[in-house]
Amino acid sequence: MVSKTTPPQKLVMLERGTMVGNRHVHMAKTALISGITGQDGSFLAELLLDKGYEVYGIIRRSSSFNTDRIDHLYQDPHEKDTRLHLVYGDLNDSSSLNTILRQIHPDEIYNLGAQSHVRVSFDIPEYTGEVTGLGTVRLLEAVREAGIRPRFYQASSSELYGKAIETPQTEKTPFHPRSPYACAKAYAYYITLNYRESYGMFACNGILFNHESERRGETFVSRKITRAATRIKLGLQDKLYMGNLDAQRDWGYARDYVEAMWLMLNADRADDYVIATGETHSVREFIEGAFGHLDLDWQEYVEIDPKYFRPAEVDFLRGDASKARRELGWEPTVSFDQLVKLMVDHDLLLAQQEAEASEMNHVAVAVTRWGSI
Ligand code: NAP
Ligand code: GDD
Repeated sequence: MVSKTTPPQKLVMLERGTMVGNRHVHMAKTALISGITGQDGSFLAELLLDKGYEVYGIIRRSSSFNTDRIDHLYQDPHEKDTRLHLVYGDLNDSSSLNTILRQIHPDEIYNLGAQSHVRVSFDIPEYTGEVTGLGTVRLLEAVREAGIRPRFYQASSSELYGKAIETPQTEKTPFHPRSPYACAKAYAYYITLNYRESYGMFACNGILFNHESERRGETFVSRKITRAATRIKLGLQDKLYMGNLDAQRDWGYARDYVEAMWLMLNADRADDYVIATGETHSVREFIEGAFGHLDLDWQEYVEIDPKYFRPAEVDFLRGDASKARRELGWEPTVSFDQLVKLMVDHDLLLAQQEAEASEMNHVAVAVTRWGSI
């Protein structure tokens, strides 16, 4: 577990490997992940550790702990075989990125860090542009300044297609971003491509369609639904307020998608790939599936709140991942129905724990009251 008392060192040096000058030389392959505390970062860290990598993750200073998704991977940095290291940094802070890259010299960099919420990007467009757009060039420039040649993965998004002009969307479909988030991702996509063409960097864009999991942030639609449905089932919540139920997405399972990131960086040549299931469902179908799995009639509980509508919506996305299938051998393994069920099953356990804790609390309060009589 990540120690809740000692914050990660600015840079935790490894026992394995050797110091050469001020830089650390590693024996295993080394990866650097920005966004390691996010949904994808946590699954990717697991995958890379399983493959024997040394993994460095960039985390941001926060007044409360934000490492829940990777706590189970934490190893005491004093132990000999520690292979996960957390370093402080920020995509808005070039000097931290320069320092990290000068010291770590990773073989692979996965740039997953972003202000990743589309609706929120309309509220904080400038900040989203800084982190999600310019953050990418800061990291790429830090690579150049360090004089190293790592392979670079950029977390590009199906949001780039926005008001898509064809279905399904492929690597050749033109972009039409519909949000400040998507505009920032468009900059990040092109700057990654530009560094590949300008400097011969092994830099890839993974154009990933929506992917969800039991670790998805709770304000994204899938997890918002599964958390609410399970809490409603146990009487912990009465209503679920939603935005546009007609939007349709190509939803996959996040664990499958991080495998694609690794495959891209371990291919013979750098390229850009669509990663998707090819299956599209509406938000309404997601709700029906989640409530149905709990034997609940969703129409009794779901209400529309226009505050969740977006100034411009992405109505429909469906990806064609045949290039990734052909060239990388990548295939999704989890269907839409399986995804909804696995998230509901997970969140039902969480809701049960919450119900039990609340019950214990009532008992504790009662005992205190009676004790004082
Ligand atoms: P997520 O759960 O929102 O995680 C975002 C990560 O970025 C978190 O670790 C966050 O750190 C970090 N971050 C935010 N601002 C940062 C900053 N200024 N400096 C450094 N790190 C920062 O996102 P996700 O779902 O895992 O997605 C991973 C990446 O793929 C994102 O770039 C996202 O835009 C992109 N993407 C996601 C999907 C999808 O369906 N999930 C699809 C296509 C593309 P904190 O924990 O400290 O906030
Ligand atoms: N979040 C949210 N909350 N979305 C809602 C709600 C609600 O209450 N009600 C309806 N929706 C609709 C949104 O309008 C959108 O059309 C759809 O549900 C999916 O919303 P999100 O889950 O927030 O994801 P997203 O598609 O906007 O963006 C996600 O996927 C992108 C890939 O296409 C994020 O993970 C992005 O970072 C990612 O790039």
